[in-house]
This record gives sequence, structure tokens and C-alpha cells, in this order.
Amino acid sequence: MITGKPLFSTERIQAKVKELAARISEDYSGKELLAVGILKGAFMFFSDIVRSIEIPMTLDFIIASSYVKTETSGEIKIHYDIKGDISDKHVLLIEDIVDTGVTLNHIRERVLSRTPLSLKICTFLDKKERRLVDVPLDYAGFIIPNEFVVGYGLDYDNKFRNLPYISIFKKKMY
Ligand code: IMP
Ligand code: MG
Repeated sequence: MITGKPLFSTERIQAKVKELAARISEDYSGKELLAVGILKGAFMFFSDIVRSIEIPMTLDFIIASSYVKTETSGEIKIHYDIKGDISDKHVLLIEDIVDTGVTLNHIRERVLSRTPLSLKICTFLDKKERRLVDVPLDYAGFIIPNEFVVGYGLDYDNKFRNLPYISIFKKKMY
């Protein structure tokens, strides 16, 4: 069940998206960007932030999954990967949340092996205290405590992704 009032309201989310997009637009000015959304979780954040970044860009996706419901198993499957040569691209990976860092580290190394011109990472949420693998985060929206959150693309068992706000999710106790 979803507990209490949202951790981040739609208004706070949108203000943070604008702030991150302004920083990215400034940092990449004069460059052409390849924005890569990591699906499914980042779909909502990705579609918001790319609309606010004011530089020329192309878009692609990586579809990744790790098994189990609330915990990350460490086993990552890539179902779809960036198409074509990226050796002349400035790649910006866009992720919903970094928890242990295992997923993003795996994806980062995979992308780096294709020698992009540059690689940076933007995550909306950072569950810093849970980190097991150190992944460099260039842009992070909010640092959050060790709670399971849903909404704004984030799911529990594939549910709640459509919520326009972020809430803490607790398993029902009987
Ligand atoms: P990591 O590999 O442990 O960093 O896990 C990253 C992935 O686990 C994210 O991309 C999410 O899909 C999922 N995840 C981690 N924490 C949460 C959460 O609080 N809510 C929803 N999904 C989460
Ligand atoms: Mg994700």
C-alpha cells in the first residue's frame, strides 16, 4: 500500500526536472547529445526532461530488467540496446533511481565498451545509503532515504508507474 502524502508532489518533481534540464542544456551547449532512457522505470522522467533540454539531440533507449519485486537480484538482462555506432556521440544516460548501483554500473560499462565521445549519467532519485557499487552520477534530482518508492515511472510488481507523484510503498502487514 501507498503510505501518507506523496514524498514528492508533481510540482516538486517538475521544478526539479526544469533545474536538471537547465544544467544539462548549459553543460552540453555547442554539443550534440544522445539522450538514452533506461526503461521501463525512466520513461516518465525521460519524456519530461528531454522536453526541457534546449539543445539538439537524438534519442534512444536501453531496456533492462533485474529480477524480483522489491530487491535487486544482481542479475541484469538487456532486452534492447542503443542502435548504431556511438563513437561520435555524447551519451547521457537517463535513469529513474540508483539503489545498489549494480544495474547502472552494468549498463555504464556496456556503453563505455562502445567508446562514446563522452558518457554522463542523470538519475532522478539516488538512494545513496544502499550503494554497493560506486557509479559516478553527474546529475541527481533528489537523494532519498532507504524506503521503497513508487510512482513517476517507478513500480512495485509493474504497478503504480503511471502516478504523477512519488510515494513510499509498504507491503501490507497482516
Ligand atoms: P540497483 O541495481 O540496485 O541500483 O537498482 C536499480 C533498479 O532497481 C532501478 O532501476 C529500479 O528499477 C529498481 N528499484 C530500486 N529501488 C527502487 C524503489 O524504491 N522503487 C522502485 N524501483 C526501485
Ligand atoms: Mg530503472
